[in-house]
Amino acid sequence: MPFLRVFHRLGALGALGACTALLVALSGCQVRDTPGNAVRGKQLFVAKCGACHTMRRAGTQGTIGPNLDAAFARDRVDGFHSDTIRGLVREWIEHPNRQGVMPGKLYQGADALDVATYVALVAAHKGKDTGDLANAIQTVSKPAVEKNGTLEIDADPSGQLRFQAPSATGTAGQVTLRSVNKSAVGHDISIKGMGIDSHGKVVSNGGVSTVTANLKPGTYTFYCSVPGHYPPMGGKLTVK
Ligand code: HEC
Repeated sequence: MPFLRVFHRLGALGALGACTALLVALSGCQVRDTPGNAVRGKQLFVAKCGACHTMRRAGTQGTIGPNLDAAFARDRVDGFHSDTIRGLVREWIEHPNRQGVMPGKLYQGADALDVATYVALVAAHKGKDTGDLANAIQTVSKPAVEKNGTLEIDADPSGQLRFQAPSATGTAGQVTLRSVNKSAVGHDISIKGMGIDSHGKVVSNGGVSTVTANLKPGTYTFYCSVPGHYPPMGGKLTVK
């Protein structure tokens, strides 16, 4: 029943008749509209979708929503074309299940089309992104070293579930972990280990989260304590 399954994905509309009416309403047949910009789509996907959805080629590792490679694998096997999948993803973005967890109106219009274009291009497909797609997301990865009692451990600005520092080192005593989060996905900076479990406040869009603790020599974990973010979003803090 591949068709029924796909039309079921059109969420609230459900029935085939309603779906056809929708497609007509959306200027003839939006499911076969022209593709958007996949490179921008990848950036937008990582910025607002990846924190909840794993999709291998985007490098995202969210676990709150379904794995999108798994979600579309069956449709690929059933022979659905990318333009059909693009229409379905766009429909999910613009009209998610009202009773569901996925937030509505994360993107609209051209933005939603760009994201759907990228997902339709790569979900459940083997291989790696190449060319401009491979360079769409730039990541910084540099261990943090304590300076004047502060460790700067900023969140990845593109929205991925990672800090720019994969690990950190500090000296015993009072240490402040400081984390700027330029992305739209809320994160905090937290520290645990050696009997400590402290959290900074959750921030986004340029906010700064800080947490201060009195550290003895040993090994700690810095991480984001927003549910579903750690792992992967954290690393080891070594105090000497
Ligand atoms: C806060 C977490 C969250 C965010 C952010 C989010 N989603 Fe979802 N998504 C979910 C959940 C949970 C579901 C399962 C249905 C439900 O509960 O709403 C889902 C379902 C889906 C589905 C249907 C998968 C299937 O099994 O057929 C697609 C496609 C999808 N999301 C794409 C996206 C895209 C694209 C974005 C970014 C614009 C996005 N999601 C942002 C949580 C999220």
